[in-house]
Amino acid sequence: MARGKFIVFEGTDGSGKTTQMKLLGEYLSARGPVHLTHEPTASPYGALLRSCMAGKTDADEHVIALLFAADRIDHIQNAEHGMAGLLEAGVTVLCDRYYFSSFAYNGGFVPLEWVVELNRPAMEMLRPDLVIYLDVSPEDAMARVALRGERERYEDLARQKLIREKYFEVFERFKATENVVVVQSGSTPEATQREVRRVAETLFGGKA
Ligand code: TYD
Repeated sequence: MARGKFIVFEGTDGSGKTTQMKLLGEYLSARGPVHLTHEPTASPYGALLRSCMAGKTDADEHVIALLFAADRIDHIQNAEHGMAGLLEAGVTVLCDRYYFSSFAYNGGFVPLEWVVELNRPAMEMLRPDLVIYLDVSPEDAMARVALRGERERYEDLARQKLIREKYFEVFERFKATENVVVVQSGSTPEATQREVRRVAETLFGGKA
């Protein structure tokens, strides 16, 4: 059986990842089994991370970076629901955030080199076939986040700008080995989804 495709969605908070990934999942499920997942994960490691992000558990930024790397390795290798096993079984896996989130977010607080090293095992274990970066201006992203009525640890404008810059910095750095496609997410969800589908189709033999 053919190995499944591994597609990652990245973007700043409010970039529309969750909606776009869900719509792509519906579209791709016509071809075969699709699994939608996210990081931080639903595992106990992910639960601990969410508690740190919400400020309920006190955690140094180094601890947070380590926990994200740990959560990610479990997400890949877990014997029951690990992504590596699913892909091996021919399932297409769509993942909301992966190691580029660690570089862009955590790499702004602790040395990026160290975060890259922490994520080296994940990069070697499981590289995405495609990373879709949903690009939205930091102002629009903040407006979307405000509409949802949520405010987490990282969601202020200056911070969102830095995160976006960091994303582009690491895309440039890893462009020889990582298949990253930037999709504009500034207009309607439908228009963005058309572009997301077109880009995803390239993995299944469609035209770029
Ligand atoms: P997420 O659940 O995607 O937030 P949202 O629902 O707003 O899209 O991610 C939660 C937060 O975790 C987000 O602010 C980004 C942060 N994060 C990191 O700092 N490092 C990481 O490695 C990952 C995966 C997420």
